[in-house]
Amino acid sequence: MSSWNPSQYSSISAHLTLSDISQVQTTESHETPILGLTSDAREKGYDGVCLPLTTDAWKKRWTNMCLVPSSSGDERKKRESRRESKLMSRDATAEKKAEVWRAKPVFEADEVTMTRLDEAEGSTAIISEWLELDTDDDWIRFDAEIALQQELSYASYLNIQTAILPAPRNRQYATCYARVVNACLQSSPFMNLAIRLPVYDPNIAQDPLSPTSSLSGRSLLSSPTIQRSSSLGSSLPSTPRLVVSQSLQSTSHPKTLEEHIDASWETWDLIRSLCDYNPRLSLALDLTPPLPNSPGVLGKWSAEAVRYIFLPASTFIANAKGYPVLPKPTQIFIRDSMAHRPNIILSGVSSGIHAKGTEAAYSQYIRHLERTSPVVQAAEKSGTVENFAQGYQDYLQAPLQPLMDNLQSITYQTFEQDPVKYKNYEEVIATFSGFSVVCVAGAGRGPLVARCLSAIQRSNREAFIYAVEKNPNAFVTLQGRQRNEWKDKVQLLFGDMRMIELPEQVDILVSELLGSFGDNELSPECLDGAMRLLKPDGISIPSSYTAHLAPLSSSKLYNEARSTKDDKNLEIPYVVMFQAVNLLSGNGGGPSGQCGPQIQECWEFEHPRKETVLNSQGLPLTNSHNSRFAKLRFHIPHAGVLHGLAGYFEAVLYRNIGLSIHPHRKDQISKDMLSWFPLFFPFKEPLYLPSNSELQVSIWRLTNQRQVWYEWHAESFLYGLGSDIGPTSNPSTPPIPMSNAGVPVTASPLIDAVDIAPERRTSVVLDPFSTRRALIKIGHTSLHNAGGRSSWIGL
Ligand SMILES: C[S@@+](CC[C@H](N)C(=O)[O-])C[C@H]1O[C@@H](n2cnc3c(N)ncnc32)[C@H](O)[C@@H]1O
Repeated sequence: MSSWNPSQYSSISAHLTLSDISQVQTTESHETPILGLTSDAREKGYDGVCLPLTTDAWKKRWTNMCLVPSSSGDERKKRESRRESKLMSRDATAEKKAEVWRAKPVFEADEVTMTRLDEAEGSTAIISEWLELDTDDDWIRFDAEIALQQELSYASYLNIQTAILPAPRNRQYATCYARVVNACLQSSPFMNLAIRLPVYDPNIAQDPLSPTSSLSGRSLLSSPTIQRSSSLGSSLPSTPRLVVSQSLQSTSHPKTLEEHIDASWETWDLIRSLCDYNPRLSLALDLTPPLPNSPGVLGKWSAEAVRYIFLPASTFIANAKGYPVLPKPTQIFIRDSMAHRPNIILSGVSSGIHAKGTEAAYSQYIRHLERTSPVVQAAEKSGTVENFAQGYQDYLQAPLQPLMDNLQSITYQTFEQDPVKYKNYEEVIATFSGFSVVCVAGAGRGPLVARCLSAIQRSNREAFIYAVEKNPNAFVTLQGRQRNEWKDKVQLLFGDMRMIELPEQVDILVSELLGSFGDNELSPECLDGAMRLLKPDGISIPSSYTAHLAPLSSSKLYNEARSTKDDKNLEIPYVVMFQAVNLLSGNGGGPSGQCGPQIQECWEFEHPRKETVLNSQGLPLTNSHNSRFAKLRFHIPHAGVLHGLAGYFEAVLYRNIGLSIHPHRKDQISKDMLSWFPLFFPFKEPLYLPSNSELQVSIWRLTNQRQVWYEWHAESFLYGLGSDIGPTSNPSTPPIPMSNAGVPVTASPLIDAVDIAPERRTSVVLDPFSTRRALIKIGHTSLHNAGGRSSWIGL
């Protein structure tokens, strides 16, 4: 038997229904209906199948044992469970059967769809959708949990790798649902669980008072799920829906689509948090219509573990020629999702609901979206960061210790593949005239020396180059290049640029000591020490660099950082090629008008520094001038969980030529530069940020005589009505000191809060940055890496 052959980016599974299974005849070549269907799916080009684990026979037996339908029509009685009925001495036989089942849960052979290992190979099992793990009836919930455990145990027996759980339907009992999922993750240690979750809560379209959309009067027998239970055998899957309680629904304004999406996401956030971010727990995102119309609304799922995407034929619309296509925002979402290599489950695609909708048209269209996905195209194109970084996405790398450690030749070789960095350096040097001596400080294996020579030659100038390197191993390579290529145009000097002496001062000091956050590989300290080598009017390339931050959500990175269970690992800034990451901040000021852009500048370093106090050797007396602090204010438009901060840098080599990994600017400044991935500052505890809240991030660059380190902290706020709480202006409030990046540098909401009535002090502080608005503090993280206890860079 040939095995499944998953494609590179997405895999496409066929959704098989009970009705499909019941209609298949067994043949000599396919001994069971499932084998026939899976073979058929493989021939049609699917990568796998997704099918219910249990049959209607199981549903019937469980319902008869565990539920008591009532003929009175009274809703309360309808949802009485078997145990309640036992108390009322009804139907003792059924109760006895149920007790026997609870004591030893076992299936009859006709209650399951698969019985053989070869049927289960390449299959994803859908757990009985009618199990209500979050119903308001305690007894039904308990019995549903037993049934779920029974199904998972059976799926495990068949070596099924992933089971898709019924969707949470009832926000009020989401904690009960989450507890059960967590219990299942513990009891089925080799099974992956995916939670089916509609992205959109359609109760917006229902009468909020109708029994199906409220908790009161809701029952398994009267719920949409059970009413649709007969459709388990039909070709289209039923889409379970989230029930929002009456109190949540009875808001004075109708919910916006985004609020509904936030509600779905919040349910997921609660479940995965209660399951402690278990890496075996993922999402089967259900894209059953209605779906949001605006592109980007689905973007928040990009930071989540979406392993499956449920895509029914009804989500497709017909194009002008009658072929099935997806609405624009869903197209964008599917294209972007390719980065996460999802398994797309196509369902109902043989029902012929589109004029030209042969079954193949749907998967061909998905393959077209895959081919035209910007993520896939970038990854396939050589020379792009995405292509270069294959296999490194979301992989945490400890940053380099460039001063304490000596780089390996292979590391230099990787840098040297960069098609942009060296070109930009050469361009800068080629623009200068009137110089005669250059120093390349930190020459490595010599690529910048070679570029300097090339620029000098291109512009028909004469100039001499000193090349300084402290890595003894790289110095051997430099000697070889000097002997064979550069000859007397270059003089090599072995040693630390902060101590070494040159025969003369130079016109241009060229260096590349930059880290992902600009200064995090100690370029400021090294160049401070090397400025002695420069003539008074000499220039440094780079002439300045800035560090930038944005708040991010990524359960993957959070899980990676804490995987060793050592808290210290959550206080290390990591180098990471981001993929399953969502930036939480919006652009613009937020309700206070005081927030900055999505990604904000922290601080800047300039070379040469003019104002530093120097000793007799021309070296700074202390390193305190390289300390920095920034307080940044971000508007958070949509609810999310803060897992860390994304760090970027931008460098001005000279005038308008630079290097940048700032996501919004890199393509204009240094497109396809490969040398740097961003920095990830993790948070030890995820911090929930509500929609339309404000996040204030404090970050410090601190130093003593031996080390440099970062500390970071965040606080979250909601906006209150400032005019209710304090004066509209406060002349006694001192002006806020601003960094040269235009951000407040020392203010703290507590230090700078104006005096308010004592009874209001505890929960509300006036926004120190704008006396017109009040901020209500709702949470904060701990101070990370205090005193450099977990991570530092050695001087
Ligand atoms: C990021 S590598 C750049 C190498 C090379 N210039 C390039 O662009 O490929 C930085 C180099 O500077 C060297 N380096 C770092 N600090 C130094 C110091 N204080 N004195 C001399 N060399 C230093 C390192 O050993 C390393 O070779």
